[in-house]
Amino acid sequence: MKIAVVGTGYVGLVTGTCLAETGNQVICVDINEKKVKMMQEGKLPIYEPGLEQLFERNIGQKRLHFTSNLAEAIAEAKIIFMALPTPPGGDGSADLSYVLGAAKDIAKLITEYKVVVTKSTVPVGTADKVTAVMKANTNVDFAVVSNPEFLREGVAVEDFMKPDRVVVGTLDDRARKLMAELYGPYVRQGNPVIFMDERSSELTKYAANSFLATKISFMNEIANLCELVGADVDMVRRGIGADERIGKRFLFSGIGYGGSCFPKDVQALAKSAEENKYDFRILNSVMEVNEIQKRVLVEKVKKYFKGDLKGKKFAMWGLAFKPETDDIREAPALYIIDDLVAAGAIVTAFDPEAMNNVKTLVGDKIKYAQDQYEALEDADALLIITEWSVFRTPDFEAMDEKLKSKVIFDGRNLYDLEKMVDLGYYYNSIGRKLIS
Ligand SMILES: NC(=O)c1ccc[n+]([C@@H]2O[C@H](COP(=O)([O-])OP(=O)(O)OC[C@H]3O[C@@H](n4cnc5c(N)ncnc54)[C@H](O)[C@@H]3O)[C@@H](O)[C@H]2O)c1
Repeated sequence: MKIAVVGTGYVGLVTGTCLAETGNQVICVDINEKKVKMMQEGKLPIYEPGLEQLFERNIGQKRLHFTSNLAEAIAEAKIIFMALPTPPGGDGSADLSYVLGAAKDIAKLITEYKVVVTKSTVPVGTADKVTAVMKANTNVDFAVVSNPEFLREGVAVEDFMKPDRVVVGTLDDRARKLMAELYGPYVRQGNPVIFMDERSSELTKYAANSFLATKISFMNEIANLCELVGADVDMVRRGIGADERIGKRFLFSGIGYGGSCFPKDVQALAKSAEENKYDFRILNSVMEVNEIQKRVLVEKVKKYFKGDLKGKKFAMWGLAFKPETDDIREAPALYIIDDLVAAGAIVTAFDPEAMNNVKTLVGDKIKYAQDQYEALEDADALLIITEWSVFRTPDFEAMDEKLKSKVIFDGRNLYDLEKMVDLGYYYNSIGRKLIS
């Protein structure tokens, strides 16, 4: 099938590449010409495990193309995906200007029936808005479909190729058939393509992300309580996770959720509820807890150094909002850097993939190390921010040689407490006993 993907960010590029992988002809279009040129030269603009191989193969086999010309991209496409940003507007609601702007441009260009799919995360009612904008700009027949994306950065290719489920919101028969045909190869093992109306589909995405964010905030509150009552959050997690009704996943406590989705999606759902005169109390608490949790690690650091961080040197392991991505949008690391630097501390960071993005954002506000051990040179303490695999079993002897003091603040609970006692570290993690 001929497909166009408008917007080649984390979602659009993975979508386009994975759709080409099953034999479709895909043209990806982006307004960022520098990015388009890069992709035309066969270079990936983002880090996403497994993507490079598929990207190269499909470009090589001429199924995956890039352009900055929308007309060229959609001319022959049966289905047009919009994978455009929906950042928070000033009031927290999702900014639909990218989606509605592209819908208008698409409408002006189409000459035959097209299925226009919103892959961006958009509030309930957006399909109606897209339809209205398009109707005002064309007399040609079209269908607007909601098809939210559930991929996780870091395992995006796997998630797209083998989704737990595909949600498609449309009441248009022709569109439904085309979408079923397109997704068929991805659900051969029997995972469902769930068809529903557009509004339910739009809300499903926000409900999923908000529920997951709720789990995180809930566990962070349990962790904070654990510290007060002398319990161990990792034990509690295992204890409740064994209950099938609760499940093992998304129960890790830490330093708050970040990334390009959870913060903005929880906020947008709360705003959407408010606009409909519904006070979504749980969501407001989820956000409040997260704001506090983002600062928990720095509070621990300040307490240890008796409020005086001036001139103190900190090594920081991890900058990305989670492992296996270079994405730093709303990353807890950024808040922690701000707080430490504002208090007069000197920060040297290492991240396997996200350092360039952080350099672009904060420049020389912090120092950057070539590897995780170099970051420790003469540091008063190490802060663990992202749970990259390489930080899980480090060479503690090499660490001892570099660190000025054997002090670790671990926002991800990577190390065994008994081991830290044996190694003689001061070790302050989240929701567990303080080793001092
Ligand atoms: N990143 C994720 O993990 C994820 C997962 C599920 C859903 N989503 C949702 O998918 C949407 C896209 O997210 P993302 O992370 O891929 O965003 P992104 O910022 O990485 O990418 C968006 C791309 O769209 C391009 N663009 C902007 N305006 C354009 C236009 N008029 N025409 C063509 N291209 C244009 C930008 O240049 C950019 O390359 C958002 O609504 C997001 O909430 C994201």
